[in-house]
Amino acid sequence: MNIINTIEEMQARMLELKAEGKKIGFVPTMGYLHEGHMALMKKAKKENHILVASIFVNPLQFGEGEDLDAYPRDFNHDSMIAQQEGVDYLFYPSVKEMYPNKMSVTVTVKNRTEVLCGKSRPGHFDGVATVLTKLFHAVLPDRVYFGLKDAQQVAVVDGLIHDFNFPIELVAVATVREADGLAKSSRNVYLNPFERDQAKELYQSLLLAKDSINKGERDPKTIIELIKKHLNQRCEAKIDYVEVYSYPDLSVIEELDGKIIIALALKFSKARLIDNLILEIV
Ligand code: PAJ
Repeated sequence: MNIINTIEEMQARMLELKAEGKKIGFVPTMGYLHEGHMALMKKAKKENHILVASIFVNPLQFGEGEDLDAYPRDFNHDSMIAQQEGVDYLFYPSVKEMYPNKMSVTVTVKNRTEVLCGKSRPGHFDGVATVLTKLFHAVLPDRVYFGLKDAQQVAVVDGLIHDFNFPIELVAVATVREADGLAKSSRNVYLNPFERDQAKELYQSLLLAKDSINKGERDPKTIIELIKKHLNQRCEAKIDYVEVYSYPDLSVIEELDGKIIIALALKFSKARLIDNLILEIV
């Protein structure tokens, strides 16, 4: 595995490989790798000649008072996992390499951000879209792999790729969960044992909603209330949001129909956790 720290070297290597006709699969991450990231790497490894992963905790996507400094980091462990997953090139730039100066041009996301995490974290998706634009230009991938755990991010990246004509295919990968259903996340390490136990209720509440929909419920408000009641009775965490939209355009719906997303975010003492379920209703 090659570890590359500069954009210039990354581009040079990728251009050489592309000239040989190699297809490049890319998994961007912020590190502290777990089975969720590994699932993306496994799929990308299978579908491309070359697997590139990046580790970069992107300051631009963290708001004031969010966990940028406290975000968990462990490069030695990450590089071991990357090696194990068959990563050919691990791009690991410094903040100075990515942002040597204050940016004179950044990307602003216009749609799909007024809801869910976009509403709770203003500017977050602008930071994501800006860093991904830079990473895509550094890595020059043919395919990029994103997890549906961050379903709104997938929707935003879909918009970025199409609106800016990146010659890239977006591949969305299903959420990887712990045995009790909690979505794997780098932030789960912030939970104390008591909260860790309660955190399984995020997914349980989504399954409860799915069950109710399967039995015929079609009113989004009823579903939202069902989830809130379940969470309030079982978790001490503060509900940030529970929302239902069409997917991937994230428009408000009056009735559950077609492809929809049920998404929620909860604030525990040191961690804000998100989860969602995407359903096709016929
Ligand atoms: P990060 O949170 O490290 O996640 C990197 C990728 O792993 C994302 O596509 C995310 O959706 C996926 N992922 C995380 N947990 C997952 C799980 N349990 N199952 C499946 N996939 C999972 O998302 C980011 O980093 C950043 O915003 C980034 C895209 C790298 C831009 O900075």
